[in-house]
Amino acid sequence: MTNNQLHNALFELLLNIGTSFDFKESANNALLSYIQQLDCAGIILYEKNDKEYNPIVYKPKVLQRDIFHKKVFEIFIKKLDTESDLFKDNLPFIINKNKTNYYIYKLENFGFLLFIKNAIAFENHIIKALRTVNDKFAKSLESCRNLEQIRQKDKMIFRQSKMAAMGEVIENITHQWRQPLSLISSTASGINILMDYGKFDEKELKPLLNDIVDKTSDLSQTIEDFKSYFNNDVSKSNFFINSLFIKTSNFLYSRLKKANIEFILNNTNDIEIYSYKNQLMQIIMNILNNAIDELEKLDLERKLIIIDITNEEGFAVVSIKDNAFGIPSSLLNKVFNPYFTRKEKGTGLGLSMSKEILEKYIKGTIIVSNLDFVFDEKEYKGANFTLKIPIN
Ligand SMILES: Nc1ncnc2c1ncn2[C@@H]1O[C@H](COP(=O)(O)OP(=O)(O)OP(=O)(O)O)[C@@H](O)[C@H]1O
Ligand SMILES: [Mg+2]
Repeated sequence: MTNNQLHNALFELLLNIGTSFDFKESANNALLSYIQQLDCAGIILYEKNDKEYNPIVYKPKVLQRDIFHKKVFEIFIKKLDTESDLFKDNLPFIINKNKTNYYIYKLENFGFLLFIKNAIAFENHIIKALRTVNDKFAKSLESCRNLEQIRQKDKMIFRQSKMAAMGEVIENITHQWRQPLSLISSTASGINILMDYGKFDEKELKPLLNDIVDKTSDLSQTIEDFKSYFNNDVSKSNFFINSLFIKTSNFLYSRLKKANIEFILNNTNDIEIYSYKNQLMQIIMNILNNAIDELEKLDLERKLIIIDITNEEGFAVVSIKDNAFGIPSSLLNKVFNPYFTRKEKGTGLGLSMSKEILEKYIKGTIIVSNLDFVFDEKEYKGANFTLKIPIN
């Protein structure tokens, strides 16, 4: 390879390193380029996993069945254990076997890269130049892995904060169950007493039994709602968007009551949509929880959360506003950023995850603004979240 050719090859290689934040995609693109630019028979990327090395990406695919390359790597690993300085002057470890040249480069903080070169060996200047390219490759792979871990942690934190809300949801269910349960209990003991005293009248019995049946169906409905929210199922179904708000506000009953907040379904048309119910509920829950967080801190004559739902050309447009004076205008464009929080115990993931779910799955949009509005002839100021949700 002439110097010129080498420069071109290295340039192409560098262009194909770090092309994506997705590990598999990034590694695949780079390895393909290595093979093309260096005319290798194959290339295998090994990642260190505790004390083991796993071949995670192979190029080309046929290598997967080749146990011979496996043997070479095993020989190398054995040597690695016994000999202290395998990578002299930062150069690769080289094995020649069956007319094939194997070059094993160390990828710092990641693992190893094994080049398989038939017949024609790498020239010395290529071996050296590859060192620099591989360092860059190692850094890019490490970043991808770190990013994956961070994303994984985000999901865990998000789940945990969802779990924290579960304690409150149970409190709300308890509240919703108390009334029907006590009604069932008192009706049953009423019937008991009637029977004891022999004043048993079938006509009286019928409506009492119907009451019991009605109340048990209330109980099971509450549990169904609860299950559907905590079930992370991602599936589409038909439902009325305003009923979703009623259910969500039931879940938040205890928080709303404690803070003395009026939850108002203002102009809400009955719009039936076909969408991801659980995910939408989760989003609404996040927005309502934020509004409650702000209103809780304030001492106001009236604390309001007002919902409006309108139908606009294939979309349900939902406005969720409060009268907690809004968000400082310099921070308005930050609230959807991951980790942005102004709360001592906030994760700052509520709105960013909500936006992501809304855009990715539901194919909708969410924006926020500060709003001055009039309600019951009085003026208020607060944050206004507008969600545009496709009806179908
Ligand atoms: N209705 C609102 N009024 C005023 N500020 C708000 C409102 N909703 C959100 N914010 C601001 O946006 C920030 C980000 O909200 P987000 O839900 O993403 O995270 P968080 O509420 O801080 O944390 P977590 O959701 O984990 O409790 C909040 O810290 C708050 O300062
Ligand atoms: Mg929040």
